[in-house]
Amino acid sequence: MAILPIVMYPDDVLEQRCTKVASFNKKLAKLLDNMYETMIAADGVGLAAPQVGVSQQVAIVDIGDESGIIEMINPEILVTDGEQTGPEGCLSFPGTYGEVSRPYFVKIRAQDRKGRFFELAAEDFLARAIQHEIDHLNGVLFTSKITAYLTEEELERYEEE
Ligand code: CO
Repeated sequence: MAILPIVMYPDDVLEQRCTKVASFNKKLAKLLDNMYETMIAADGVGLAAPQVGVSQQVAIVDIGDESGIIEMINPEILVTDGEQTGPEGCLSFPGTYGEVSRPYFVKIRAQDRKGRFFELAAEDFLARAIQHEIDHLNGVLFTSKITAYLTEEELERYEEE
């Protein structure tokens, strides 16, 4: 495995719509493994392939709970419900944090690294992380959804609550 350089904003690849994955091969498995190592090294809870310069519909999420690592290839949102507002950051925007409103609940359909379809339901912070990563695959950045920017001090206060 290898730690990959993370693409920083502004880079065109971050605002492009990613292409669908058609080949579920060793190269994809290696990309996923490297993305995971890169995300952990950067202390993130999610990472999308365009953030390592690969414009394909591949994203991972691991918020450190019992859900473990979630690998999403060609994900689609099937259902959303409710609303939550909370702080968000992104590994491609170091030091930038803001309040973002998103649905509280999400149900997705995606493929795993072998190409097998699965459905996953998530709520609260996990749903937020999944939606943030799927946005990346559509070239949508969280800064377009920020309603109020937060300083690092304000973010820490949020985390203490
Ligand atoms: Co991000």
